[in-house]
Amino acid sequence: MQGYHGTYEIQLGKFLGKGAGGQVNLGRNIQSNESVAVKLMTKDYIDTERGAAKIRELQMLHTMTHPYIISVIESIEIPDAFYIIMELGRGDLMHKLEEGIHDTAQAKRVAMNLFSALEYLHSIGICHRDVKPENLLCCQGPRGEEAWKLGDFGIAIFFTEEDPYITGNIGTPDYMAPEIFLDQKYTKEVDLWAAGVTLFSALTAQSPWAHTNPQAKQHAILIGEVSWHQETWDAIDPNAKDLVEKLIVRDPQERPSPEACLRHKWLIV
Ligand SMILES: Nc1ncnc2c1ncn2[C@@H]1O[C@H](COP(=O)(O)OP(=O)(O)O)[C@@H](O)[C@H]1O
Ligand SMILES: [Mg+2]
Repeated sequence: MQGYHGTYEIQLGKFLGKGAGGQVNLGRNIQSNESVAVKLMTKDYIDTERGAAKIRELQMLHTMTHPYIISVIESIEIPDAFYIIMELGRGDLMHKLEEGIHDTAQAKRVAMNLFSALEYLHSIGICHRDVKPENLLCCQGPRGEEAWKLGDFGIAIFFTEEDPYITGNIGTPDYMAPEIFLDQKYTKEVDLWAAGVTLFSALTAQSPWAHTNPQAKQHAILIGEVSWHQETWDAIDPNAKDLVEKLIVRDPQERPSPEACLRHKWLIV
């Protein structure tokens, strides 16, 4: 089945992914023949908090240009939805990990690209709040190299230097920093905790939270009790572990900034 919107053909049968915020399909620019990704954002919540967040997502996406952030080509408004036309990724990091692809070289590229994206986002006053493997897309960089780009700004939020505090118990529990669960005000440093959990998974294809019982898991997160799976980590570059250890710490002020992460001994070439 196909739908046409202006210059775009939307391949409704070709599903790229689905999360809480909408579905993403393959599309094509009929004039240039370029393949694109098309995210459908329905307007049914427009007057609700979620609807307002979707409009925020659209506004944010249009203001950003960065080599490690998924670029938005345009957004098309139809009566009850928006189509967000984006550059096409070749699958997300979660898919790769599920396929069993998790080597240190790949994790290192993920780390360098993600910290570069976070450095930019934080510098323009945006906290992403949903850093996780599902939201990192595998793309091609300018020299044909693999580039990991951050997408899904569905729950991203603005902050300022004067008012750095953010509220809202929101996110994906496995990647949420302890201060979010505590219903306190928190800051952009929640993205660095989530980056630490994401890198833990990128390096091991495992979660730092070994408990399957949700209460026990939440307790482990609150006290920052990481399950290190000794045998797995023995085979990994100790510098990679050092950075992950510095990020998954309870005190947000102790987490290194994205710039400091980029200067960490694991990532300095
Ligand atoms: N530009 C893209 N190219 C390829 N796949 C994408 C793209 N954007 C999203 N996807 C896929 O769709 C999934 C859901 O999209 P996302 O923007 O994360 O929405 P949600 O808010 O529903 O999580 C992603 O995890 C990814 O697998
Ligand atoms: Mg998502």
